[in-house]
Amino acid sequence: MHDAKSAKAQLKTKQDADTCYTCHQEMRAKAQRTSHHPVREGKMGCSSCHNPHDGATPKMVKGDSINELCYTCHAEKRGPFAFEHAPVRDDCVSCHEPHGTNHPRLLTQKMPNLCYNCHFTGSGHFGSGDNYSTEKGVQVAPPGAPSGYPTVNSRFIERSCRTCHVKVHGSNHPSGAYFVR
Ligand code: HEC
Ligand code: HEC
Ligand code: HEC
Ligand code: HEC
Ligand code: HEC
Ligand code: HEC
Repeated sequence: MHDAKSAKAQLKTKQDADTCYTCHQEMRAKAQRTSHHPVREGKMGCSSCHNPHDGATPKMVKGDSINELCYTCHAEKRGPFAFEHAPVRDDCVSCHEPHGTNHPRLLTQKMPNLCYNCHFTGSGHFGSGDNYSTEKGVQVAPPGAPSGYPTVNSRFIERSCRTCHVKVHGSNHPSGAYFVR
């Protein structure tokens, strides 16, 4: 405090992040990943999202909840939406890692695997598929498979879900159920 390096808060380092990294080294590593909040560019600090003196909130975030924190800067994600996507309302970090990832848009996993975590079996294009490959017109189930062999509509395997489901955070369009517009 007698030889402060930061512009405010009398820190030992110029950026608050460098003070935090002395102990939280895994966060230094995450900040180097391709997709990251602009912390290493100096436009944000750890204290944009954390209050290091307040343990009353989960993970000391500056908000009543993680989502409330995210809405302070990403207000357009708050909604309400006519069609809500449950995990978005529940917790932004089900799909995003705010400290940095090697997938676009801070996603925790590559697409479409991210969506498969929760959507794979069930109705619609999963489970009751047409059982044909759109490209070759051949059956996806192995030859001789018993009838009722579980297959998934091949139109939707390894395709980018976002090609059609463009509004994954929720939609206000009258025909926005399924987040396709
Ligand atoms: C002198 C070492 C040290 C420094 C510097 C430090 N921390 Fe920590 N921090 C810790 C320890 C120890 C824990 C507890 C870790 C555990 O429980 O596994 C912790 C935990 C945390 C947690 C998790 C709290 C929870 O509820 O689980 C957050 C968030 C955090 N620190 C943020 C920061 C931020 C932001 C800074 C910089 C302003 C910072 N820390 C600087 C040592 C440090
Ligand atoms: C964009 C907002 C944001 C920024 C910037 C940010 N954090 Fe976090 N941090 C979070 C959120 C949200 C969580 C809770 C994540 C969770 O529960 O999975 C968290 C959790 C943590 C934890 C606890 C991790 C654990 O697994 O328990 C530590 C430690 C931490 N942050 C340190 C830092 C440090 C150090 C910085 C600066 C380099 C930083 N954070 C910058 C949002 C942020
Ligand atoms: C203090 C303001 C602030 C908070 C709080 C904040 N962000 Fe951000 N976020 C930003 C800024 C600034 C950018 C970079 C925008 C740009 O580059 O155009 C960004 C970018 C992003 C991106 C896009 C990254 C990319 O590669 O394009 C995602 C995803 C994101 N934030 C998610 C979150 C989540 C989830 C939370 C809550 C844990 C959160 N943000 C909290 C300021 C914030
Ligand atoms: C079900 C998974 C999921 C959840 C939960 C989720 N997102 Fe996203 N988010 C995505 C995907 C997928 C993209 C990439 C979209 C793209 O490629 O443009 C994205 C992109 C973003 C972006 C950058 C592009 C844009 O649309 O602005 C921001 C910012 C963002 N999310 C913030 C949030 C916030 C804030 C929350 C919590 C309220 C949240 N996300 C919850 C999946 C999710
Ligand atoms: C963490 C789990 C989770 C993840 C990850 C997730 N979803 Fe969802 N999704 C849900 C839940 C829960 C519902 C609500 C299901 C319901 O109401 O029956 C839902 C609903 C939907 C619906 C509307 C279905 C309906 O019947 O109304 C679509 C479309 C959808 N998700 C697409 C996606 C896409 C695309 C992704 C990847 C970006 C994704 N989801 C990632 C949990 C998830
Ligand atoms: C070619 C466009 C397209 C692609 C690609 C696509 N979807 Fe869909 N999806 C739709 C449409 C349209 C509906 C609404 C179906 C209806 O009206 O019955 C839908 C419905 C859904 C539903 C709700 C009904 C159900 O099947 O349970 C979920 C969940 C879903 N999609 C997830 C996904 C995921 C995850 C991916 C990526 C693997 C994906 N979709 C790829 C167009 C698409």
